[in-house]
Amino acid sequence: MRIEDLPIPEKAKKILLKEGITTLYPPQEDAIRAGVLEYENIVLSSPTASGKTLVAILSSLKHVLEKNGKVLYLTPLRALAAEKYEDFKTFEELGINVALTIGDYDSADPWLAKYDIIITTNEKADSLLRHKAPWLTDITLLVIDEIHLIGSDKRGPTLEMLISNIKRILRKNFQIIALSATIKNIDEISNWLEAKSIISSWRPVKLTEGVYYDGEIYFEDNTVKDIEMTYDPITDLTLDGLSDKGQVLIFTSTRRSTISYARKLLANLGRTFVREGIIDKEATKKIAYEILSVEDNQITQKLAEVVQRGIAFHHAGLTYNVRKIIEDNFKKNIIKVIVATPTLAAGVNLPARRVIISDYRRYNVELGYYDKIPVMEYKQMAGRAGRPKYDKYGEAILIAKTYDELELLMEEYVRAEPEKIYSKLASEPVLRTQVLAIVSNEFAHTLDGIFDILEATLYAKQFNISSLNFSVKSVLFFLEKSEMIKMLEGKLIATLLGRRVTELYIDPLTASMVLDGLKKGKYHTLGYLHLISSTPDMPKLYLKRREKEKYSDILDELQALLFKKPPVDPIDFEYFLAELKTAMLLFDWIEEKSENYIIEKYDVGPGDIYNITRIAEWLLYSAYELAKIKGYTDHLRNLHILRERVKHGVKTELLELARIKMIGRVRARVLYDHGYRSISDLINADILELARIPTIGRKLAQHLKKLAKNGYLGQDLREDLVELEETPKKDKIDRRNTLDKFLGL
Ligand SMILES: Nc1ncnc2c1ncn2[C@@H]1O[C@H](COP(=O)(O)OP(=O)(O)OP(=O)(O)O)[C@@H](O)[C@H]1O
Ligand SMILES: [Mg+2]
Repeated sequence: MRIEDLPIPEKAKKILLKEGITTLYPPQEDAIRAGVLEYENIVLSSPTASGKTLVAILSSLKHVLEKNGKVLYLTPLRALAAEKYEDFKTFEELGINVALTIGDYDSADPWLAKYDIIITTNEKADSLLRHKAPWLTDITLLVIDEIHLIGSDKRGPTLEMLISNIKRILRKNFQIIALSATIKNIDEISNWLEAKSIISSWRPVKLTEGVYYDGEIYFEDNTVKDIEMTYDPITDLTLDGLSDKGQVLIFTSTRRSTISYARKLLANLGRTFVREGIIDKEATKKIAYEILSVEDNQITQKLAEVVQRGIAFHHAGLTYNVRKIIEDNFKKNIIKVIVATPTLAAGVNLPARRVIISDYRRYNVELGYYDKIPVMEYKQMAGRAGRPKYDKYGEAILIAKTYDELELLMEEYVRAEPEKIYSKLASEPVLRTQVLAIVSNEFAHTLDGIFDILEATLYAKQFNISSLNFSVKSVLFFLEKSEMIKMLEGKLIATLLGRRVTELYIDPLTASMVLDGLKKGKYHTLGYLHLISSTPDMPKLYLKRREKEKYSDILDELQALLFKKPPVDPIDFEYFLAELKTAMLLFDWIEEKSENYIIEKYDVGPGDIYNITRIAEWLLYSAYELAKIKGYTDHLRNLHILRERVKHGVKTELLELARIKMIGRVRARVLYDHGYRSISDLINADILELARIPTIGRKLAQHLKKLAKNGYLGQDLREDLVELEETPKKDKIDRRNTLDKFLGL
């Protein structure tokens, strides 16, 4: 099917042709034959890179240009949302406007009313629903990207409830397009969504999967390829995969192993890469400098070292900016090899000719043993093989150490089908949050009403809904006891507190724990940090076995500062120590310990520090809001200052300086120690003297002076001072992004 023959506006065709899209891919044709452009609901299930987005784009154009409609496009990741936003923006010259909204979970984003196409994440959309964004009822097309996420324990239920709620609010007057990786029971999803299933196994680049064993790759089509055995299997497979401008993506299960593999490759192949001209030495050196200029710490130094030879590691402990540099330069084929955790497979579009999956088992921290990864996850990693336009084929390779393992991997992964997905709605933390949201949003006022809503979920299609009876009742009991809902003339009503908890997008249990803690009295800074670190919304740092003693000793010393006593139960006690460790990281952060110090002491990456502090900031903001509602005014000032300190990573004395945009924690400290302690000090400063201060320099000094001259600094200060007395400013905190890491997505 040619683009020219499609029933879409001529101008849209021109843009597509300009983008190099002349004919449709087979799955796209299937979708159009199934009536997607005539507003039919569809679930399209096809492999990675088979062009699912374009189906959504064509339909969106139809809705906006011919129906004056409005499109909501849901993705699971912030990075994906940004990628889709770029895809859609290409069509803005047709007179449609596209918006991207991520972050800030405490807003209804009224500005979105005038946008035709809104791209967002599942969690942000859920929070918009909770804030009753009025424009939601204008939606005529709902696109759900990566709908298979519904089967994920932690984030699936949010998506499931979101879809159920939107369906109910909009009734039948809208179209659904759901896009999915290959799953076994796609028909159950389509049945739930009242949509047609379109299933295709077509890929733009042929994929061959296989298993390496003892010098040979055994492919699924029974061909065998010899690999020269010089080093270890991964090095040998990598070198082989790089021939003819190829690129290699290696997946390993832990962050630590991404680094150790990358260094091993450097040691084994670094010289060969230069000698054989596999890398462009000047170009890779430039990237190494770029990484260090964006961020200079232990981890980026290790990264820069391998990047100089065209090798990179990639995991969620790196910050977004650094990851972006790696991804962009891999796309440009300057970086040749990436060793990544599976996060990358679920993320942005980053194909390589050869994908090596080094571990098919993953250590389960909670259970203490190695789990096999699901077939679906293997297929997602394997699906990254084959670069459209560059490669005629892609190869995905698992590694076996014994012949038995070779047979097992063939059977259980290469030749296996991805498993079925099931609703995860039954878990209690999920129900707690969702039931409160249902009552807060006034979607239901009775137990029966709540069940009517749950009746519309996938869970109800897959299981017996009455099995939730006990859990829902105990959740209602908890919510009533913690004063988030009450019975009024036989009706369930959310209290002001309950509504606020829903809006703040925190677990009701978090809210109740925070309020219990605040009720008891004031705390030392560490006590507040410990309080928020003990809530279910705070991801805990992992407590290693050998750290137990160390943190028990620390606990003995610090006990008086904490908000509660340690529990007696040995397992609970270990959790308690993990909470303490998390609180201590935050404490070191606001006491201005250096990034490298924190990285080493807690064995975390810079990305983790960012994530943990962002979540802490959000929880401190929430604690402040909750304290306000409950009239716990004694805490307000403490919580507000603490939140600002966590945001900037500074002691209180630096807050005034750190609030200035271009001044981070390090520069604020340097300025302060040179006698510039307030904004008025800066205004009165001599520009040459300012410029002489290390890390400040002429450019920044000039900028600061310019701001001062225009009165901007003074203005900022006045606003901030008023704020300090009133409520903290609502901030753009992207909790989604922060959660990604901890959920391993
Ligand atoms: N008909 C077409 N002709 C040429 N290129 C196309 C066509 N359709 C899509 N593409 C390109 O194919 C690439 C992959 O498409 P897309 O991201 O939509 O894949 P996907 O099916 O959503 O994969 P994933 O499951 O990984 O999200 C994009 O770069 C897109 O521009
Ligand atoms: Mg896609």
